[in-house]
Amino acid sequence: MKFLKAEFVQGFIRMANDGWEQGWHERNGGNLSYRAKPEEVESVKENFSVGEWQPIGTSVPGLAGEYFLVTGSGKYFRNVIIKPEDSIGMIELDEKGENYRIVWGLAGGRPTSELPTHLMNHEVKKELTGGRYRVIYHAHTTNVIALTFVLPLEEEVFTRELWEMATECPVVFPAGIGVVPWMVPGGREIAVATSRLMKEYDAAVWAHHGMFAAGEDFDLTFGLMHTIEKAAEILVKLLSMQPQKRQTIQPDDLRRLAEDFKVMLPEKFLYEK
Ligand code: 13P
Ligand code: ZN
Repeated sequence: MKFLKAEFVQGFIRMANDGWEQGWHERNGGNLSYRAKPEEVESVKENFSVGEWQPIGTSVPGLAGEYFLVTGSGKYFRNVIIKPEDSIGMIELDEKGENYRIVWGLAGGRPTSELPTHLMNHEVKKELTGGRYRVIYHAHTTNVIALTFVLPLEEEVFTRELWEMATECPVVFPAGIGVVPWMVPGGREIAVATSRLMKEYDAAVWAHHGMFAAGEDFDLTFGLMHTIEKAAEILVKLLSMQPQKRQTIQPDDLRRLAEDFKVMLPEKFLYEK
């Protein structure tokens, strides 16, 4: 099968373009990765042109031998839909999970500079979900970034404030949201900090930078990013109108919601203010 015709490649391209249309990907901002299924790799193998092994910059033994579709470093989400073979590519990991090589695309370029964070998040999620989770997404979500200048950088506060912004929020991200303080992006250190949070959450805020989301497929992962960013937009609007809420969803309301929707909301987020 032609590489670009494969359903998982089409899904990846559509998600990248959806993110661009939301305004989350100025210039080369943001990146996306997908852990391909063995049968998907098999279906496009005839198109492979194998490059040299390169160091990942961290070690992910739990992903040894796996293949990933990734966006390229310095590439624009805006261009993914018109020149995918330049903007995205497929990589293969070696048997130790320490090196990668490009097997398709990225026209002389390299995978996203956030590859260590993507792969360490994939490793955590693969193990925790028995392989169900396949997508890791990083976006420069405007309103979430704005909130990192005014809210304390604490997961209890971010989770609770965003839950209150829309009744569906606690159902969409019942585990809550992690928060990584400002750190230099692109390396192992921020990857370690983020993947530690991914053991508990499906989303992590990067202070003054953006957000990471993880999920089973493109719809769920994009939907998670979209829901959190929309909640953040509502909070930014409300804070711009007046600093205090006149009324809101109370902790006991959230407990009742959890019961009816059969989700577990950790009590640490249901504190009295
Ligand atoms: P890349 O172009 O290397 O993917 O970097 C963009 C980005 O958002 C870094 O955090
Ligand atoms: Zn970024």
